[in-house]
Amino acid sequence: MNKLITFEGIEGSGKSTQMRLVARNLSARNAPLLITQEPSGTDIGRKIGAILFDRGHHQMCAETELFLFCAARAQHVREIIMPALLQNKIVLCDRYSDATYAYQGAARGLNSEFIKAINDYSSLGLKPDLTLLFDLPVEIGLKRAGDRDNLLKDASLSDRFEKESINFHNKVRQGYLDILKSEPARFRLIDATRDAETIQQEVFRHITEFIGQHD
Ligand SMILES: Nc1ncnc2c1ncn2[C@@H]1O[C@H](COP(=O)(O)OP(=O)(O)O)[C@@H](O)[C@H]1O
Ligand SMILES: [Mg+2]
Repeated sequence: MNKLITFEGIEGSGKSTQMRLVARNLSARNAPLLITQEPSGTDIGRKIGAILFDRGHHQMCAETELFLFCAARAQHVREIIMPALLQNKIVLCDRYSDATYAYQGAARGLNSEFIKAINDYSSLGLKPDLTLLFDLPVEIGLKRAGDRDNLLKDASLSDRFEKESINFHNKVRQGYLDILKSEPARFRLIDATRDAETIQQEVFRHITEFIGQHD
C-alpha cells in the first residue's frame, strides 16, 4: 500500500510551514519519511522551476506551463517518489497533480481531459492516497506570501504566480475546492486562517490516523 500524502492550497496557505512542523513531529515517532516538493524535488525540477517562476517570463503560455510542471513531475516520480514508496516510506509532497488541475486547468482554462492524459503519463498514474487542502481567502494568503518574501529580503522570491490577479487566485482556490468535492474520500479540508500551531494539531492527527489505517 502506497503512502503518498500531498499538501495543496493557494500561495501563502501555509503548506510549507505545516510540512516542516509535521516532519519534525513525525520524526520524533521514528516514522520512515521522505519530505519533498514540486516542482523542485529534483535537481532537474529545480531548473525547470527557475524557468516557471521567473517573473520575466510573463509571456509564457499556459501549455508551456503545463508541460514544464509535468516534466518536473515525470522526473520527480521516477527519481524520488516511486523509489521511496517502494522502500515503504511515507512520502509527504508539497504540491502535486491537483495543483496542475487547479492552476493550469481551473485558472488558466486548459482542458482537463487533456491535462489528465499528460499528467497520468508523467506521473505513471500515481495518485495521492491522502491530500490536505489548506483553504483560506486569497487576500490573506497573498498577504502572508508577500510578507514572507519581504522578510527574506529577496524580491525575486515573489514569483510569477504570486504576481497574478486576485481573480486568478480565486479560480485556483475554487479549482481545488471542486476537486475536493469530486473526491471527498481522498481529501481533508483544513481551515488555514487559524494559527499555525492549531492547524498543526489537525494536520498531525489526519496524518497519524492515515498511517495507522495503512500500516
Ligand atoms: N497559520 C498561519 N498564520 C499566520 N501566518 C502563517 C501561518 N502559516 C504560515 N504562515 C506564514 O505565512 C507565510 C506563508 O506560509 P508558507 O508556509 O510559506 O505558505 P505556502 O507554502 O503555502 O506558500 C510564511 O511567512 C509563514 O511563516
Ligand atoms: Mg511553500
